[in-house]
Amino acid sequence: MSVKFRNGENIPLEMHKTRVIQRLNLLPIEERLKASQEAGNNTFLLRNRDVFLDMLTDSGTNAMSQAQYAAMLDADDAYAGSETFYRLEAALKDIFGTRFFLPAHQGRACENIICQTFVKPGQSVLMNYHFTTTKAHIMRNGGSVVEIIKKEGLEVTSDLPFKGNLDIDRLRQEIETNGAKNIAFLRIEAGTNLVGGQPVSMANMREAVKIAKEAGILTVFDASLLSDNLYFIKVREKEFANKSLHEITLELGSLFDLTYFSARKLGCARGGGMITNREDLYNKMIGLVPLYEGFLTYGGMSVREMEALAIGLRENLDIHVIEQTPVFVEALVKELVAAKIPVVTPAGGLGCHVNAMDFCDHLPLEQYRAGALAIATYIASGVRGMERGTLSEVRKEDGSEHFAEMELLRLAVPKRVFSLSQIKYVADRLTWLHENRHMIGGLRFTFEPAVLRFFFGRLEPVSDWPQKLAEKFRKDFGNSL
Ligand SMILES: Cc1ncc(COP(=O)(O)O)c(C=O)c1O
Repeated sequence: MSVKFRNGENIPLEMHKTRVIQRLNLLPIEERLKASQEAGNNTFLLRNRDVFLDMLTDSGTNAMSQAQYAAMLDADDAYAGSETFYRLEAALKDIFGTRFFLPAHQGRACENIICQTFVKPGQSVLMNYHFTTTKAHIMRNGGSVVEIIKKEGLEVTSDLPFKGNLDIDRLRQEIETNGAKNIAFLRIEAGTNLVGGQPVSMANMREAVKIAKEAGILTVFDASLLSDNLYFIKVREKEFANKSLHEITLELGSLFDLTYFSARKLGCARGGGMITNREDLYNKMIGLVPLYEGFLTYGGMSVREMEALAIGLRENLDIHVIEQTPVFVEALVKELVAAKIPVVTPAGGLGCHVNAMDFCDHLPLEQYRAGALAIATYIASGVRGMERGTLSEVRKEDGSEHFAEMELLRLAVPKRVFSLSQIKYVADRLTWLHENRHMIGGLRFTFEPAVLRFFFGRLEPVSDWPQKLAEKFRKDFGNSL
């Protein structure tokens, strides 16, 4: 929630209090520099004890409520037929109105099962925008990804309230040109992760699904980032201003043939699942759950997490729960815009996305602008963000780089985790880094894995720029951390 202060400024206000805390470390910059070298200049490889604010992701790191912790004690530890499963299944039925539920250990596990079941070699999957693991699973099954996001979705600054929307004309064209039988499914991703956590409107989803259904194409909804998207439908789409979050969720549940989610994100727990009203789809996928995940009543999840998830999903229908990330992201974006730092606007969900394309425009694209900014940010602040650019892409068949359309540094704002002073600290250190941006140099791989290289690839700076940056920090900040 935001409230107006006496000076007229809107200030985000936490609608919860902190009763369990985790101690944090802010290492001196010399130690941060050493930690960045040990991590191969890849923020995924940093040890969390060396990180001050972990803004890598919201995946599995959202704060849980006391009701979620309490429910964990109630878990029914049974391999088959656990009461916990039936409670979670009932919660999903109630919240989304769907009849069938298949559990999985996380979002990509759902993608594995869905892609193995529905993607045939040579087929394409139409979507607003890809997510890394989704694309990897589609390609592994011989399929390809066709992105049909509206052009504003790929523009860093825009005033379009729903930058995750699909381009409806392109959707029609793709179906006409490729033919429905060559399209495995239409996938719409809520809160489009890789373009800056940007939402999709209900109106756009209705239209796209209608067209796909008329052509006989399966429709799949990735609801991992539904929480932020729900908030934006409620506050930015007039038709829904007076509708409850439950009514909106029920409509989404009935719109798509199949919905899946990462419960590391949705529901503030750790797990995943697929829900549908179509028994035929359920029956096609059911065999793969025990094969890859675990028996049908736990699917690789711990029963304690399943109990927490059932409560977390219900709490997702509370505006004070789902608004916390978007209002904090907005506060951070506002401070950065005021400091003339290039960021994705309008503020979306998930986190603040700094435009490394401009921030590091002095670096050649093959030296990974967003990757360099991510490690420079860690050195300057102890804040761990995530590269979302060329490093997260897959090389072309001839081995050359596939340059990403956007080079972003994502600073995730997990739900109910950070305070406003911590958000202000991030803005302050980024402002210093922006003033010194020409000191940031490029990176090159020393170890480049063939699949999902951004997770565990190792890089080195092309010069001694990290040392020079650390020395400048010491000069400017004296003894301060
Ligand atoms: C939109 C989206 N889909 C799928 C996934 C994969 O989920 P998981 O990390 O639980 O495997 C993620 C994870 O970040 C995501 O953001």
